[in-house]
Amino acid sequence: MNNLKLIFLIAVSSIFLNCKNSSKESTSKKEITVDEVLKSSSGKIKEALKPLKVYDSLPRNIENEEGKWELVGVRDWCSGFWPGVLWYAFEFSGDKELKQAAENFTAPLKAIAYSPASDHDIGFQIYCSFGNGYRLTDNEAYKEIMLAAADTLATLYNPVVGSIHSWPIKPQYPHNTIIDNMMNLELLFWASKNGGSKELYNIAVSHAEVTMKNLVRPDYSTYHLGSFDNKTGDFIKGVAHQGYADDSMWARGQTWGIYGFAFSYRETGIEDFLNTSIKLADKFLERLPEDGIPFWDFDDPKIPNAPKDASAAAIAACGMLELAGLVKEDDLKIKYYNAAKRFIDILSTNAYLSNDKNQALLMHSTGHHPKNSEIDMPIIYADYYFMEALLRLKKWKS
Ligand code: GLY
Repeated sequence: MNNLKLIFLIAVSSIFLNCKNSSKESTSKKEITVDEVLKSSSGKIKEALKPLKVYDSLPRNIENEEGKWELVGVRDWCSGFWPGVLWYAFEFSGDKELKQAAENFTAPLKAIAYSPASDHDIGFQIYCSFGNGYRLTDNEAYKEIMLAAADTLATLYNPVVGSIHSWPIKPQYPHNTIIDNMMNLELLFWASKNGGSKELYNIAVSHAEVTMKNLVRPDYSTYHLGSFDNKTGDFIKGVAHQGYADDSMWARGQTWGIYGFAFSYRETGIEDFLNTSIKLADKFLERLPEDGIPFWDFDDPKIPNAPKDASAAAIAACGMLELAGLVKEDDLKIKYYNAAKRFIDILSTNAYLSNDKNQALLMHSTGHHPKNSEIDMPIIYADYYFMEALLRLKKWKS
C-alpha cells in the first residue's frame, strides 16, 4: 500500500484549475489547490450570508439577473442544504461567525422532526443540517432532534412493500420509492447506532434491498421512481419522473444510487450493496461526455445541446470518494479516487465556478427538466455536495 499512498498523496497535493477537456469557457492555466478552492468558497459563502437576516428563509437557486439566492421556507425539500453549506464552511475555516450562522439557519428546521412526515426528504433536511452540526459540535440537543426525525421518517415505511413510501403526495402512485430516497437511509443507520431503535436499521436494509431489486435495471442504469402495489407489495413499473423517459438514465438519480448504496455497504457489510454501487458508478463513468460533466439525462436526444447537471458531478464525486474508501482492490481504489478528483477538478474551473457572477459556488445544475424548472442554474445542493467533495478530498487517507 505504500506506493498507493504515494500516488494518493501526489494526487491530493494539487488540483488543477485547467483540466484539458474541461470546457469551452476554461482558459486559465493557473494551478490551484483544494485548500484554495475551499478558502475562496468559504469566503464567498460568508459574503452571501450578509443580506440574509431571516433564518427560516433559505437559499435554493439563482434565476434572477442580480445573481442573488432565491429563498424558500423550511418545508422545502432543499432547506437543509444551506445550513449544511455553512457547517462545511465552518468546518474548513473554523470561523465563529460561520458557526453562529450555521446554528441560526439549522434551528428552524427542528419543526420538521416533530411534524407528521410529508415525504422522505426529511432525511436531506435533517441530516445535512443537524447531522453536520452534531458531527462538528456534539450538541446533544441536535442528537435528540435527529433521533426524532429518524422515527418520523420511519413512519413512511410500508412493511408489505419493504420500502419507504417516498412521496405520499403523489396519489397516482399508491406506493412509490424513488432512487433519491437511498440518501435518506443514512439518517436511519445513524439513529440505529446512536440510541434509536434497531428496527430503523432493519427498515434501511430492507429499503435498500427493494430499491436494488426493482429500481436498478439489468444494465445498471436506474429508474427514478418505482411504483408498487401498496397492498401486495408487487412492483408495478419504473417511471422517469425527473428523467427524460422511463427507460432513460437521469444523471442525478444515478448518483444518488452510487452514493446511497456505497454507504449502505459501509453500514451493513452487505456485499451486494457494494457491488451495486460499483456497477452504477461504472455505468455513469462509461457514459460521461468528453468534458467530464454529465448532461441532465444521458439519453436526452438534444445532447450535445442539452443542459448539464453540475450537481450530479458533485454528488458523484462524494459517492465515488466514499466508494474508493470501501473497495478492497487497489486498482478500484485508484479508479474511483481519480474519477472523483476529476469531477472536482473540472467543477473547480471557470467553466463551472460562479466566481463573481452570482452568490453561489457552482453554475450549470438542472433541477426538474420535465417540469421546465431550474434549468441550467446554480442550485444549493450542487454547492453542498461540492463543499463535501472538497472536504473529503482534503481529508482523504487511503
Ligand atoms: N428530488 C431530488 C432531486 O431532485 O434530486
